[in-house]
Amino acid sequence: MKRLLPILVLLVAATPARAATPQEGVVANVTQGKSLYAANCSRCHGSRGQGLRDQGPSLKDAGALAADFYVRTGYMPLDNPHSQPWRTRVLFTEQEIRSLVAYVATIGHGPAIPSPQWQTASVAAGRQLFADHCAGCHQIAIAGGVLPGARIPPLNQPTPRQIAEAVRVGPYLMPKFSTKAITPTQLNDLVAYVQYAKRPDDRGGWAIGHLGPWPEGMVTWLLAASILVATCLLIGRRLKA
Ligand code: HEC
Ligand code: HEC
Repeated sequence: MKRLLPILVLLVAATPARAATPQEGVVANVTQGKSLYAANCSRCHGSRGQGLRDQGPSLKDAGALAADFYVRTGYMPLDNPHSQPWRTRVLFTEQEIRSLVAYVATIGHGPAIPSPQWQTASVAAGRQLFADHCAGCHQIAIAGGVLPGARIPPLNQPTPRQIAEAVRVGPYLMPKFSTKAITPTQLNDLVAYVQYAKRPDDRGGWAIGHLGPWPEGMVTWLLAASILVATCLLIGRRLKA
């Protein structure tokens, strides 16, 4: 069983992240969005998105970008206005999400949903940007952690689009970064780095859950030990025969 463990760890590490790719061909309906908003959001954000003191902020500058991020992560609707938004099960269908997002976009003048072009961006440049702007909270290995007053999520769940959105929105205690602070090109690099860090290149060695040299040494030892045991058994059998 001990020898199986690294293999299990390997399998878990290799399982692809849940695909949250928005479906194509679904059309938003603003009227439907408005009634979903009235039922699920207005008690905190106000009947017209004006915000309610001690409940929820105004959505005048939120726009499609923030709505898409907060609803698709399951951050919203929040249970308690004083708790930190966190990933939970998304309560809405694709059609409902699009309609809600379209309705929130009519409330004010927030930015549109980004579509980061990260596939051809620079992982090395992204790593440097991540070290400068993000690693202080999320850690360079994207493992997350805690700050006084906030939990910091690991970054293996957000999709490329959600990473780009989070940088612009700055949810909860996270700062928001303007297009001057992080240009669209730099944002592509950042997304490329986070995508890379979710699954670092495993060429040239066993990944063994990316736990570092200790488990690798351990596996070598276990392999050596099992070869030894097998050899002893063989020799034993020969001696008996
Ligand atoms: C001051 C600490 C801090 C810094 C700096 C910071 N973040 Fe965050 N980040 C957070 C916190 C706290 C959350 C959780 C927000 C919430 O719960 O609403 C978060 C959430 C996120 C999320 C959503 C993750 C999820 O699955 O819920 C992403 C993506 C993200 N950050 C990326 C970044 C990137 C990229 C940078 C650098 C450009 C960055 N963050 C800088 C604290 C920080
Ligand atoms: C229990 C109260 C509550 C409910 C219900 C709620 N929200 Fe929120 N919402 C909040 C609070 C509090 C914040 C601020 C969280 C933060 O700082 O990240 C927030 C933040 C947001 C933001 C980000 C605003 C910005 O400009 O950064 C959006 C967008 C949003 N909510 C949309 C929604 C939608 C859509 C719904 C309904 C599906 C909803 N909320 C339901 C309390 C609530």
